[in-house]
Amino acid sequence: MSERRYFYHVVSPPGHDELARLEFEALTGDRAPQHPPWDERENPSDHPRLLWARAGVDVGRSAYVAECCRLLARGATLEEMLAASEKLGLRMERFHVQARKRFGTKVSSSRQIEVAVADTIWGSPDLSRPAIELIAQAHEGEWLLGELVSRTSNGWLGHEQRPHQYSSALPPRIARAMVNLVAAPGDRIIDPCCGSGTALVEAGFMGIEPFGWEINRSVAEQAAANVCHHGQAAWIVVGDGRTAKGRWDGAVLDLPYGISAERVDEVLRGLVEHALKIAKLVAVVTVDELDDLFAEQGAEILGIATMVKHNLRRKVYWVRAATA
Ligand SMILES: C[S@@+](CC[C@H](N)C(=O)[O-])C[C@H]1O[C@@H](n2cnc3c(N)ncnc32)[C@H](O)[C@@H]1O
Repeated sequence: MSERRYFYHVVSPPGHDELARLEFEALTGDRAPQHPPWDERENPSDHPRLLWARAGVDVGRSAYVAECCRLLARGATLEEMLAASEKLGLRMERFHVQARKRFGTKVSSSRQIEVAVADTIWGSPDLSRPAIELIAQAHEGEWLLGELVSRTSNGWLGHEQRPHQYSSALPPRIARAMVNLVAAPGDRIIDPCCGSGTALVEAGFMGIEPFGWEINRSVAEQAAANVCHHGQAAWIVVGDGRTAKGRWDGAVLDLPYGISAERVDEVLRGLVEHALKIAKLVAVVTVDELDDLFAEQGAEILGIATMVKHNLRRKVYWVRAATA
C-alpha cells in the first residue's frame, strides 16, 4: 500500500466537521481518523484540520476541503525540514513559499522561514504570479514542506442569494458536500425531494447533471426559478419521488419532516427504499435513525455525519446501494 504523501486542509464551521470528513473521504478515496461526536468534545473543533491521503486530487469543487498539497520534505524541527528539502535538490522556476503555523495563520517569523526554504531550491521565485506555490507549515510537532496541488474555489459562496428562499432548504455548502459524496463531474444525480433546488444548483455548478422531483408544484416552480437564476439547467418533475424511473449515479435525499406522524414511516421508508433502487450511491439527511432500514435493504453505510445546529441534530448517511 502506498504512503500517504498528500496533506489536505479541511475547513469546517462548528457542527459541520463530520460532514467535512466524509467529503474528504469521498474526494480522496481515503479514510480519515474518527473523532468523538461533535457535541461530546471538550474543545469543539471549529478550526481547520490537516488530513493525509495517498492520492492528490483536485479539490476545486469541494465544500470543506480547502487545499491539497504534495509532501516534499518534513522534519522534526525547521532545520531538519530545510536540510531534507536541500537534499532533494529541487529545481523550480517562478515559485513562491508561504510559511504558516496552520492553514490561515502566519508564523511570526514567516518571512525568514520563507527565505530559508527558498534558499534550498534551485531556480527563481516569483512572488506576484507564481507558477508553483510551496507551503511550509508546522503540524503536530514537525515541519512540513508541500507543493500546492489544488485549492477550493469556494464555489458555493453567494448561492444563498436566489429568488426563492425556502424554510426547509439546505444551506448550499451542505448540499454541495452531499452531492460530492455521491457524484463526480460528468455523473447524473437525482434529488427525489428537491424542494427549492439547492442540491440541483450545486450539482449544476460542478458539472454534474441534476434531476429533481418535487411533489408540491409551486415549490417545484421555485426550484426551477432558482436554478435559472444561477444560470444552471436541471430536469425538474412535479411528482412523487417514489415514482422516479431511471438510473442515476447518485441520489441526494433531504427527507421531508413535519409530515403527519401516521404517514411518516410509509413515506420516508418509501423514499429511501426507492432511492436505493435507482441510484448507486445515496446521501440522506434526516432527523431519524435509519441504520436498520439500510441494513434491511442490504445497503452498505460508508459513513455517518452528525450535524448539530442549536437544538437540531440531523444525520447525513452516506450509503452504497446493494444494486450498485
Ligand atoms: C426538506 S425539504 C427539501 C429541501 C431542499 N433540500 C432544499 O434545499 O430546498 C423536503 C421536500 O420534499 C417534498 N416532498 C415531500 N414528500 C415528497 C414526495 N413523496 N416526493 C417528492 N417530494 C416530496 C416537500 O414538498 C419538500 O419540499
